[in-house]
Amino acid sequence: MTAGPTKEYIDPVRYISNKSSGKQGYEIAKSLSKKGFETTLISGPTNLEINNDINLIKVETAEEMFQSTLKSLPADVAIFSAAVCDYKVKVTSREKIKKQDEISLELEKNVDILDYISNHNSLRPELVVGFAAETNDLEKYAYKKLSEKNCDWIIANDVSNESIGFDSDFNEVSILYKDKKIERLKYKSKSEISDELVEKIINHLS
Ligand code: CTP
Repeated sequence: MTAGPTKEYIDPVRYISNKSSGKQGYEIAKSLSKKGFETTLISGPTNLEINNDINLIKVETAEEMFQSTLKSLPADVAIFSAAVCDYKVKVTSREKIKKQDEISLELEKNVDILDYISNHNSLRPELVVGFAAETNDLEKYAYKKLSEKNCDWIIANDVSNESIGFDSDFNEVSILYKDKKIERLKYKSKSEISDELVEKIINHLS
């Protein structure tokens, strides 16, 4: 399970990041563990805590999250809820950059962890679940991610709605399946959403 944001450093005191509390990912990890899954949670920086029965690996950058994910395989199920930065700074300054009138940052693409794991047969877990956080055209973009990233399921959530947004304890999501079937999990706590999702995972695996 990946969760939370990643940080990509510009210099020792500055970084680029994504908005993400990590709450939904942590709740899914708890639900998995409660149901007996041996669970590894690879988390970017968050303010959250997790029970000791979950193997927590703390990371900062997308590259660290990628390496930790590789080390955590094989797995039966992989769920990618992290808000991974799509780009990193090409050259991170060792020293604090002094203020200037203008500054340009050269960015390069980070590895897409979900895409990589999902498209390498030797690594691919039986069930690969991605997330799609969108502000508009939710289902259109979520289906695109489902097929382009070769996922089995995509969990789509509308992050333009503050009541189910990043810091909320509540969520409302759609699960999109490969056969175009779609299931909506109505407004409820992130913890209840997670329990329902894990029930679906258990049914799928059995
Ligand atoms: N993801 C990942 N590694 C990345 C980027 C994304 O593993 N470098 C995963 C996320 O954890 C999520 C899914 O891919 O499960 C979709 O992430 P999202 O940020 O919504 O999509 P992007 O592919 O980055 O596309 P865009 O930013 O253009 O919407």
